[in-house]
Amino acid sequence: MIALDLARLADEVDAQLAELATFSAAPAPAVERVLYTKTDLEGRAYVRSLAERAGLKTRVDPIGNTFFRLEGADRDAPAIATGSHVDAIPNAGRFDGTVGVIGGIAALRAIREASIVPARSLEVIAFTSEEPTRFGLGCIGSRLMSGAITPDLVRALRDAEGRAFEDVRRDAGFEGALEQVRLPEGRYAAFVELHVEQGPVLEAERIPIGVVTAIAAPASYALEVRGVGGHAGAVLMPARRDAMTAAAEIVLAVEHAAKSTKSADTVGTVGVVRVHPGAINSIPSRVHLEIDLRDTDLASRRDAFAMIEDAIARVQRERGVEIVLRTINEDPPAISAPAILDTIEASSRALDLRTRRMPSRAYHDALFMARIAPTAMIFVPSVAGVSHRPDELTHPEDVARGVAVLAGTMLRLAAA
Ligand code: GLV
Ligand code: MN
Ligand code: MN
Ligand code: MN
Repeated sequence: MIALDLARLADEVDAQLAELATFSAAPAPAVERVLYTKTDLEGRAYVRSLAERAGLKTRVDPIGNTFFRLEGADRDAPAIATGSHVDAIPNAGRFDGTVGVIGGIAALRAIREASIVPARSLEVIAFTSEEPTRFGLGCIGSRLMSGAITPDLVRALRDAEGRAFEDVRRDAGFEGALEQVRLPEGRYAAFVELHVEQGPVLEAERIPIGVVTAIAAPASYALEVRGVGGHAGAVLMPARRDAMTAAAEIVLAVEHAAKSTKSADTVGTVGVVRVHPGAINSIPSRVHLEIDLRDTDLASRRDAFAMIEDAIARVQRERGVEIVLRTINEDPPAISAPAILDTIEASSRALDLRTRRMPSRAYHDALFMARIAPTAMIFVPSVAGVSHRPDELTHPEDVARGVAVLAGTMLRLAAA
């Protein structure tokens, strides 16, 4: 349907990913672009320049979700969309999310350069804050777009410095009511996200294209442990109600719970710990923890959570501390649209590329786009399955194959 020069595509997209990685708050090879910070804005401006050079039209919504559009023959028909994110967690690599944005732009550019006018319009979406780094909640842009959260919930968000979402958004230059972000069901005829696998399966099996059947259900919780502070030299051990030792027990309980369900897919992580007052000679009086808990199977995730709740009750009782638990999000899994899976496979076959159906253990904006459009994802191999690390790597040829499959898939979906 569309003949692509894969070698050229690989070189171009790799150079663009490398340039995007220079907009980073952390020294290379690490990448860090946290929501609404200078580097996030620079990253957005860079991908916008790529899209506009490719002849795509830009629209930015009030929260900063950015839409790059190639008009189709029928401008009013629901479009076919792709996209991902350019924000990056601390100590990240350069491929997570960016492959889906830069790759999406490359796919649309190739279609335009081939003078193909698709039956429906095609769009690339760069979503705001897929990563939860700043406000503790991931996929803020796609959640709001799909109605999975309300504008009031977004307005109530505070970052670790206590700054309100709306103040930070305004300072970053985004205007308009959050109410306008919501898109109706039916706006898109399909959504297909291209992403690096972030796991080892495709590389190990030497399969270039993963066809994502479902996205595991993520949940996250914030916990505050309140103990009693004091002098690290003067307060004897029997008198202590140390918030940090209590928090340590919770951390181990999360690990134990994730290992104890019936499912091999349950994973639990405590990746955020803030200790107050954070002085070596002061007994911690307050500890803030954030727990990430996931499974492809919702019942097992719930079992793990029940075990964590039991541990919280026990630690409070035994250690005389108070523990306040707040649910940040508890999302159901997303199931891909079978017709799109078939289309991705047909597009891969046309390029002589082998495929494998698989779940996504990481979450993606596709998790929420699935609420308003038939959705699926295309995975490309991650070397050694490494992700959320500076040494994350996907080979340029593999990115190019993903872009080619994406272009073919979008054209087929537009013609359907
Ligand atoms: C997103 O990066 C995730 O944590 O799955
Ligand atoms: Mn990520
Ligand atoms: Mn990602
Ligand atoms: Mn992700």
